[in-house]
Amino acid sequence: MAELFKKADIADLLERDIEAFYKLLVKEKRDRNILLILRHLGKLPTNFNASCLLPLLNSENEDIRLLVVKNIGKTKSDLFLDQLYNVSKNDISTLVRREAVSSIGRMRSQKAKAKLITILDDPDPKVILQAIRGLLVFKSDPEIYEKLISMQKHPNEIIQAAIEKELHNVYTSKVDPKIHTNSPDYLKNTIVQGDVREILKRVPSESVHLTFTSPPYYNARDYSIYQSYKEYLEFLANVFKEVHRITKEGRFFLLNTSPVIIPRFSRSHSSIRYPIPFDIHPYLTEMGWEFIDDIVWVKPEASVKNRNGGFLQHRKPLAYKPNSVTELVMVYRKKTDKLIDWNINRYDDETIEASKVLGDYETTNLWSIAPAFDKVHSAVFPLELCYRVIKYYSFKNDLVFDPFGGSGTLGKAAMDLDRYFFLTEIKNEYIESMKKYFSQRKINSIVTPKTMNIGSFDELLRAYNK
Ligand SMILES: C[S@@+](CC[C@H](N)C(=O)[O-])C[C@H]1O[C@@H](n2cnc3c(N)ncnc32)[C@H](O)[C@@H]1O
Repeated sequence: MAELFKKADIADLLERDIEAFYKLLVKEKRDRNILLILRHLGKLPTNFNASCLLPLLNSENEDIRLLVVKNIGKTKSDLFLDQLYNVSKNDISTLVRREAVSSIGRMRSQKAKAKLITILDDPDPKVILQAIRGLLVFKSDPEIYEKLISMQKHPNEIIQAAIEKELHNVYTSKVDPKIHTNSPDYLKNTIVQGDVREILKRVPSESVHLTFTSPPYYNARDYSIYQSYKEYLEFLANVFKEVHRITKEGRFFLLNTSPVIIPRFSRSHSSIRYPIPFDIHPYLTEMGWEFIDDIVWVKPEASVKNRNGGFLQHRKPLAYKPNSVTELVMVYRKKTDKLIDWNINRYDDETIEASKVLGDYETTNLWSIAPAFDKVHSAVFPLELCYRVIKYYSFKNDLVFDPFGGSGTLGKAAMDLDRYFFLTEIKNEYIESMKKYFSQRKINSIVTPKTMNIGSFDELLRAYNK
């Protein structure tokens, strides 16, 4: 008997003697065997009468009900619309309810359409999404279009995003996708001195492939730059809004920050901790960056400030202070309706092959990397951190950008990995240090690194735009 439940046997029986199949199904009482039969049904013959499956809709076994609904759906006939609608409303399993809505969607009939509209009021967003999928077939019908558009007001964000993508295509770039892999020549291996906010006004939309940056610190002791934490966050948000504009469709932005501690004002005050990564995050998602990953950069304990002195002695609860050995590298992608494969497929086979990340790579989001120290700059990226970011998030010959360039570590790593860089930095001493470094590397580079102020950058732009 068990032999009968092989896929080929079921198909054979359906073809040879469909009545015998119906009898077999009625007779079979064991869930295990019923499941085998249902799983092996495959493509149904045109004369298949799905009413033989209906009694199984009352099975206590969720998998059986699910497979019954799926198989009825294969017939694409609205003969059993009422039964499926009943399941979509009343089954205790949300999986079965969703499958019932999917089967109703496959019918594509006027009657089915009417039922799908009522399902838009379902309390389960996943069931609603299934109904939306079924109704999209009718989106040229003004009544359905209106109904679907009204779903944009639904409180669930996945439903809102689905409608937005299907009916508006809001995230699609206006720029010709053929130029996705290119970037303006004048930005390649270019370092501009000045306030990044001024410089970015001059940079065309969708110019860079990847941005990785570590912003200046918030120092509440020195209010000369940012008068308050809010002003600091807004300064960063304004820069990252521009980074968003100049980033190509679907490409990445990695932001390295960590909570900062501002020492206490006097012995009668506590120190204040500012959770920068968490506070900047809502600004980023609001402006159109999609959150992708949180990478934790972990440093050796000996390399960070020791906060354990007091606790080590007194051991009193509540006064515990762990040493901060981590920083966050938050990964964002410019929101788009395109999948990652779309981005990859913009490149030719040769570039994809040459950019593959071969050999060992970091398989987790915990990156152990020792911090770096620099004679000129007090807060530089370790080269290794930049290497990983560039290798995992860009292709050869891409343009990578750091708005807070500092000593230019991202640019140095970009050159090592055959990418172009674009850096902006406000302080002259760091610009001088970069100039020195890159002048020594001029000889082997295809595009000579160049350092300039905003005035010269304007001239360069004019020359290119002639
Ligand atoms: C944390 S450091 C970046 C260090 C860099 N990642 C490196 O590896 O050298 C931040 C840098 O942002 C620069 N900066 C601050 N405000 C700026 C602004 N408005 N425009 C451009 N650069 C700015 C600072 O001078 C500082 O060098």
